[in-house]
Amino acid sequence: MLFEYTHPTFPLPTEAQPFMDSEDKNGRLALRGDLLDFTSMPGWDEVESAAVRYRPDHWLLIEDGCIVGCQHGAQAPDASWRREEHRGKLLLPGFIDSHVHSPQLDVIASHGSTLLDWLETYTFPAEMRFADWEEAEAGAERFLEALLAHGTTSACVYPTVHKISADRLFASAASRGMRLITGKVLMDRHAPQALRDDVPGAERDCIDLIERWHQRGRLAYAVTVRFAPSSTPAQLEMAGRLCSTVPGVYMQTHLAETQDEVALARSLFPQSRSYLDVYARAGLVYPRSILAHGIWLDAEDRALLRDAGAQIAHSPSSNLFLGSGLFDWRAALDAGVAVSLASDVGGGTSLSMIRTMADGYRVQAMAGRSLTAWKALHAATLGSAEALGLQAEIGSFAEGSTADVCVWDWAVGAVAERRLSVARSLHERVFAWMMMADERNLSVAYVAGVARYRR
Ligand code: GUN
Ligand code: ZN
Repeated sequence: MLFEYTHPTFPLPTEAQPFMDSEDKNGRLALRGDLLDFTSMPGWDEVESAAVRYRPDHWLLIEDGCIVGCQHGAQAPDASWRREEHRGKLLLPGFIDSHVHSPQLDVIASHGSTLLDWLETYTFPAEMRFADWEEAEAGAERFLEALLAHGTTSACVYPTVHKISADRLFASAASRGMRLITGKVLMDRHAPQALRDDVPGAERDCIDLIERWHQRGRLAYAVTVRFAPSSTPAQLEMAGRLCSTVPGVYMQTHLAETQDEVALARSLFPQSRSYLDVYARAGLVYPRSILAHGIWLDAEDRALLRDAGAQIAHSPSSNLFLGSGLFDWRAALDAGVAVSLASDVGGGTSLSMIRTMADGYRVQAMAGRSLTAWKALHAATLGSAEALGLQAEIGSFAEGSTADVCVWDWAVGAVAERRLSVARSLHERVFAWMMMADERNLSVAYVAGVARYRR
């Protein structure tokens, strides 16, 4: 054991039910529909891309929760498979939301402020409720049910500063068999007293949670620094120590989201060259670092992110809503920085990764660039999985992957139906879907081959 084990205060969950619906035959499930996923990263401008794998009317074969193959729709699998017909629907790998706040469902769509004011006015008061075990448990359940109802089967999540909020989130994810990366939020200054921890207590809580949940099933721990302004240098140092000593641990934080926030970070860490440098000096920038936003960066920062193998979790809905700025996706790409997509609820106004992709298109359009449906969809599936080092498990329909699969209506309503019916190419069709669809298009969400949401 890595650390001395302290009090396991709360009950561990019952394990996720076995990797099959009760009626599955021998754990064998076959799903029929239009299969779309990626085999590599599409180029920026490519509307016809070899990276896109489209297999209309095919059976996706799933055994014991894993994808084992695929065959044409006309060639039905034999009676040893339970067959589910989703003919005429779009099957995608479950979405990955690389940055989202579970307690902020309660403040989504709050009117009239920019980041720092929004945190104080709406967010911090809402997060205080999660000190309570029942609130933490109910909040975790509500949040994961909502993720699944939006077609998101994997996520990197910020609960609150309270250990119990992370503990309950892990437990809820375990009972659904979901891939979840989370950890208690670290914040020991510039926050209300009720939301502050201290370095020794926070370190103990992190270690307890790591011992209890890290790399258990589909769960992983993320050292979760809220952002540099709300952690003392001593706390950042402690966080860096955890990152360098716990194998496989992730690190998530916010970076250069708004200009006011950058100015605040600069004033608190005058010795650092840039906001990113604050994290780099503390040992927080490495291949499993997930840095949200990264709008106000320079070329040196991007080079550092590339060299470290860290990723930016781009959150366009949040950036538009809070007026934070327009992320330069192309500059990140050209610099070789991995970019994933994220809802950032409650700064973002929807858990839907489809709406997030559509907002991603709008942000690039404001800067005179055209984001393809392929770039957006890749960043919400395989691209995100690769940035997390989880491409063998999630993000595609590759054989051996866990069967996190969502079934989508191509069109809901007469306008979308008409638009889709006149689309001339696959990209045109998928782009129109991305701009017009939302969670109401979701029919079923399977997690490891088990239907966890049905409309
Ligand atoms: N920066 C620090 N905390 C937060 C948060 O909760 N949401 C967003 N969007 N930015 C932050
Ligand atoms: Zn955030």
